[in-house]
Parts: sequence; C-alpha cells; structure tokens
Amino acid sequence: MHGTDITTARYNRLSMGVHWLTLALLVAVYALIEFRGIFPRGTAAHDAMKTWHEMLGLSVLLLTCGRLLLRAVLPAPRITPAPPAWQRLLAKTMHLALYAFLLGMPLLGWLILSAKGKPIPFFGLQFPPLLSPDKAMGHRLEEIHEFVGNLGYGLIGLHAAAALFHHYFMRDDTLRRMLPRRRVPVRVSRAAPGATMPGEGQ
Ligand code: HEM
Ligand code: HEM
Repeated sequence: MHGTDITTARYNRLSMGVHWLTLALLVAVYALIEFRGIFPRGTAAHDAMKTWHEMLGLSVLLLTCGRLLLRAVLPAPRITPAPPAWQRLLAKTMHLALYAFLLGMPLLGWLILSAKGKPIPFFGLQFPPLLSPDKAMGHRLEEIHEFVGNLGYGLIGLHAAAALFHHYFMRDDTLRRMLPRRRVPVRVSRAAPGATMPGEGQ
C-alpha cells in the first residue's frame, strides 16, 4: 500500500460494484462457452451451458446500459498524480473500446439467435428476434461474434495489465480508485488526557 490513500478520489461504490460484477459475469460467460465441449453435443448439460452463456451475456448488455447512464451523471475521479495527456487519451480510447465490446458482443449474440430462428432465452422470459431467419447470415454473425470474443481477451488483458502497471510501476492511485477503501483499525488510546501520541503535534 502506498502512502497517499487519503488523497485517493474513488469511483462511487455502485460504479465499482458494477465494474467488478461485469468481470465476474464475463468470466462465467467465457467459461460456459469455452468449456461447453466437456459435455457431448445434444446433451441437456451442453445445452444448459449454452443457454446460461446467452442469459448471462444478455445480463451484461442490460448492466452496461445502466452503467452508461450512471457514468453520464457521475464523472470518473481524478488520478493522483495525474498521468501524462497521452496516457489519459489512451485510457479513454480503451474504455470506449471496452464499452463497445460490452454492448456489441451480446447484441451480436442476440442477432445470431434471431438469424438462426432460435428462441432468445432470458431467465424464463424471451427476448424478441431482431432479424428474420437467415441461416447464412447467422453463420456470418457467429464468425464475427467468435472473432470479437477472441479480441476481447486481448482488450481485457491489456486493460488489466495497464491497471497493474499504474499501481506497481507508476505508483499512482489508478487501481485504488476502483477498490473499496481499506478499513483502518481504530486504536483506543489509554494515554493520559493532554498527552500526545507519537507523530501528533510538535
Ligand atoms: C459479453 C457477452 C458475450 C461474450 C464475451 C461471448 C463470447 C463468445 C465466444 C468467445 C464464443 C465462441 C466460442 C467458440 O466457438 O470458440 C461465443 C459463441 C456463441 N455465443 Fe457468445 N458471447 C457473449 C454473449 C452472447 C449472447 C448474449 C448470446 C445470445 C443471446 C450469445 C450466443 C452465442 C452463440 C449462439 C455462440 C455459438 C455457440 C456454438 O458454437 O454452439 N453470446 N460467444
Ligand atoms: C481483470 C481485471 C481488471 C482490472 C484490474 C481493472 C481495473 C480497472 C481500473 C483500475 C479502472 C479505472 C481506470 C481509469 O480510471 O483510468 C477500470 C476502469 C474500467 N474498466 Fe476495468 N478492470 C478489470 C477488468 C475489466 C473488465 C473485464 C472490463 C470489461 C470488459 C472492464 C471495463 C472497464 C471500463 C469500461 C472502465 C472505465 C470506467 C469509466 O467509465 O471511467 N474492466 N478498470
């Protein structure tokens, strides 16, 4: 822990919560689809993994819409010490790319199921199709979804690496802004009234 915790202006708790919940959802969304092969095609377990991939993916879409509304009213807190302008521009570009990914991937998934004429499940509900059935289109969209999904690993990896770089090498508060404040244990002093604690006063 570096010594400037008190000066750290953090993201508000809701934005932090949504950020880390999105990470957890993405881990599940990726794991469900990457490991669906552990159950043979056509089995109920294989289908359940796909359905959960789709439902949690759609949850990412809804959560991101809410997050963007929140972001529009609550600006990001400043970083201390302030990074150079080119880094701020790079971070902004990366965040835009991540938001585009968080909206684009689930939308592509929704379009795939629409084009394939399949139901679009959402926790007992069904989303309406966005396209009329078109098998060839479904296939093309699936290729794009897979390509952007692989790109996502790179984007998220770079983003997390940048956060760690700021924390450990630039030693600024970029990462701490996204983490809850550490609880500092309160010490009960038994000192006599008027006595000064070490470091207090002159
Ligand atoms: C953040 C959201 C999402 C991510 C990161 C994601 C990621 C992926 C990835 C990486 C694959 C390719 C797996 C492979 O073939 O190697 C895939 C496949 C697929 N995804 Fe998504 N996806 C997301 C949301 C959705 C949603 C919302 C839907 C549908 C409503 C969906 C439907 C599909 C379908 C139908 C496949 C093809 C599965 C198969 O080949 O059987 N995805 N997804
Ligand atoms: C893997 C671990 C992750 C770490 C360590 C991490 C860390 C951080 C940090 C420190 C910030 C603040 C950056 C700044 O203000 O410049 C941030 C913001 C952000 N993160 Fe992450 N993140 C992670 C995963 C993710 C994932 C999986 C996504 C979504 C794909 C994501 C999307 C974003 C976005 C969009 C922002 C910008 C927030 C804003 O609008 O100000 N992060 N992240």
